[in-house]
Amino acid sequence: MEQRRSFIKDLLQSTEVDREVNAKGWVRTKRGNKQVAFVALNDGSTINNIQVVVDMANFDENLIKDITTGASLSVTGTLVKSMGQGQSVEIQAKEIEIYGTADSETYPLQKKGHSLEFLREIAHLRFRTNTFGAVFRIRHAMAFAIHNYFNDRNFYYLHTPIVTGSDAEGAGEMFRVSTFEPGKEPKTEEGKIDYTEDFFGKETNLTVSGQLEAELGATALSNVYTFGPTFRAENSNTPRHLAEFWMIEPEMAFYDIHDDMDLAEDMLKYLVKYALDNCIDDLKFLENRLIEEEKSKPQNERSEMPLIEKLQFILNDDFVRLTYTEAVDILKNSKPAKKGKFQFPVEWGIDLQSEHERYLVEKHFKKPVILIDYPRDIKAFYMKQNDDGKTVRAMDILFPGIGEIIGGSQREENYDKLSARIKEMGIPEKDMWWYLETRKFGTVPHSGFGLGFERLVLFVTGMSNIRDVIPFPRTPKNAEF
Ligand code: 4AD
Ligand code: MG
Repeated sequence: MEQRRSFIKDLLQSTEVDREVNAKGWVRTKRGNKQVAFVALNDGSTINNIQVVVDMANFDENLIKDITTGASLSVTGTLVKSMGQGQSVEIQAKEIEIYGTADSETYPLQKKGHSLEFLREIAHLRFRTNTFGAVFRIRHAMAFAIHNYFNDRNFYYLHTPIVTGSDAEGAGEMFRVSTFEPGKEPKTEEGKIDYTEDFFGKETNLTVSGQLEAELGATALSNVYTFGPTFRAENSNTPRHLAEFWMIEPEMAFYDIHDDMDLAEDMLKYLVKYALDNCIDDLKFLENRLIEEEKSKPQNERSEMPLIEKLQFILNDDFVRLTYTEAVDILKNSKPAKKGKFQFPVEWGIDLQSEHERYLVEKHFKKPVILIDYPRDIKAFYMKQNDDGKTVRAMDILFPGIGEIIGGSQREENYDKLSARIKEMGIPEKDMWWYLETRKFGTVPHSGFGLGFERLVLFVTGMSNIRDVIPFPRTPKNAEF
């Protein structure tokens, strides 16, 4: 009878030795001599490889020649206690089947230490490196933990549409969705494109946020969250922006801004703790990777804390909470402001740039920071207006090395104030009638926020470019794979 395949993760943890097992996976390395070969096999279930011991006398010479880095194998043999260092068990091979060879002249992942930039160009193969295996296992763990977190707290997962007719954030950075043939769009009498003829009978685009629809759900189900792809046609070629990213957007009826901040802080801590409790092998690998990388940097650019310590540090302290206005005062009186070191000068009313956010978090407070009460002119139409007539009940959470990881707010639940703001901002009311009706019928105070999933994964993995924490990044001029 053919032996059932075991995952390498389970074999490595097994104390039941001297039994026949089967493992399948890809060869990481082969070394040895004329009598015996040692093959390191990995199947993605763990960062660790299992050592396969191949007694040359028992195998065809040509088969052994084909066991090269990148080849895929099925190995059946005896799981035995390992005499060697670095592993507790190994497989003494009895039968080896090669599924696919990997020509050593052309297989791109021969040596260790390829640059992340190079690996981005071979994103179809980069999963096979230790680094990307670790990153994508952690990415999965974070997605799973998010659903767990909400499920345990009476939140319902709501699937909001990907094709929408509204611009939730009002930034106008949308990808159009249309079935018109370019250049042959039907025109109205005034010569404008006639969208009533288009597939949906109106202008549509890929969603920039599921929030508006999540709010509709929250006004009946109390607590909902979305977790889906989000699209922004902003031309920001930065290590923190993607044109296609994933966002988690909880929305809670009967929550004010303080409840909103409490939930966001608790959730971030839960997720970081989940990673520490469930992904420690991968985190240790990434930590060492970073320590190696740091060695090549000038002293003043090195980060002070190793990865795992940085994650533990998030759990220990309360996040600092202050108003935008207080933050602007701190920034104005800061050393970099006085020395003219900020690229963007600080004035009340500006949208804080990542250099300002990172100064507050990394230099001034040395803790995660939550800023509230932003100027209303730099924030979206739906935020609850404060009595001062200048600010809104917005909250942004700023993280070390990341800047903004969460953006959220209490929502304007007053029909008159909301509709006045919509008019004032020139948003077509005909597109918003359904949103406004929730304020007409049984309106409630409510709040929510958006967590950028890739920014969370960036933080937890310690990676420095957002393109390295999503399998196939979409950025300006880049949609390969
Ligand atoms: O601050 P944003 O634009 O807020 C919203 O979209 C609200 N509707 C959220 C809500 O209240 N329900 O985006 C939320 C978060 C940001 O803090 C950031 O982490 C992430 O989404 N984000 C991006 N991540 C990667 N690439 C981009 N281009 C991003 N834009 C925003
Ligand atoms: Mg924001």
